[in-house]
Amino acid sequence: MQNPQEVQSAVAALRLALEDGGADLSRAPVALVLGTGLSPVGEALLAQPGSVRVPFAALPAMPRPGVDSHAGAFVWGRINGVPVLGQLGRCHLYEGRTPAEVCMGVRVMAAIGSRALVITNAAGALDPLFEAGSLMCIADMINHTGVSPLTGLNCDAFGERFPDMCRPYDPEFRKLARGAALRLGIRLEVGVYIGVHGPEMETPAETRMYRQWGADAVGMSTVLEVIAARHMGMRVLGISCLTNKNLPDCMAPAPLAEVIAVAGRAGETLGRLLWEVLPELAAA
Ligand code: HPA
Repeated sequence: MQNPQEVQSAVAALRLALEDGGADLSRAPVALVLGTGLSPVGEALLAQPGSVRVPFAALPAMPRPGVDSHAGAFVWGRINGVPVLGQLGRCHLYEGRTPAEVCMGVRVMAAIGSRALVITNAAGALDPLFEAGSLMCIADMINHTGVSPLTGLNCDAFGERFPDMCRPYDPEFRKLARGAALRLGIRLEVGVYIGVHGPEMETPAETRMYRQWGADAVGMSTVLEVIAARHMGMRVLGISCLTNKNLPDCMAPAPLAEVIAVAGRAGETLGRLLWEVLPELAAA
C-alpha cells in the first residue's frame, strides 16, 4: 500500500518544525539515511551550530524505530557546506512494520524537495575477499524481502505504476564516491546488496544461495527504500558498512553488539567519505 495522506501530514509538520528552527529549505537538501550503528556519525556531521533536529515522535504518522541501535529523528544541517536532511534510524519489516512505514522517511524527504538520496546500512559480507569494517558502494540490489512498497493502488503523484529499475543506484554518484574514496585512501568495495526480511540471521545454506545469486553483501533494510526513491525519481548512492563476514563454510554468530561496534568504527570512515563526496553529489 502507498500512503500519500500519511506522508503529507508528516511533511507538513516536518516543514514547519524545520523552518521554525531556522532551516533554509530554499536549496533542496541531500537526503541521508543512516542505518544500524551509524546514527553517531550522522550526529557528529550534522549536529553543528544552526542545525535543526526533529524527533520522529513530533511528527504525525511517522513510525518510530523499535530497536535501540536506531535514533529516530530527522536532522537538517550542512555537511561540508551542503544542506543535508539526515534521517537517523529507520524502521524494518522485521519489527512488524509495513513496506509503506519502512519507506516513510524517504517519501517524506523527497516531498521536502530532496532529489538525491544517500542511503547507508550495516551488512554482512558474502564476498570472501571483503573485510569486516570496510565499506561497500552498492552497485545493484536484490529485493528478497518478498514485498514491495508499490503494492496496491499507485499514487501517480509519487511516480509511475511500473518504475524502471535498470539503474537503481546512480552510476555517476557511484563514480564520484569511488573517486572520493581513492583521493582519501579509503578502500571502497563495489558490489550487489541483497535485502532480506529478517530478523533471524542467515543459515549456511541461505548464504551459499545468496552468493550464488550474485550478492556480495546481505542486510535487512535499504531495498524497499530504494524502490520508493526510484519510484519518485530520486538519484541514489548506497553505502554498506560491512560489519561481519557471512561465509557458508565458516559461519560464526554476528551478535548485534558486534555489528554496532564495527559499524561505529566503519562509520568514522563513512563520515570522511561523505564529507568529501557530498559537494560533488549536490553539484552533479
Ligand atoms: N546478515 C543480515 N543482516 C546483517 C548482517 C548479516 O550478516 N550483518 C549486519 N546486518
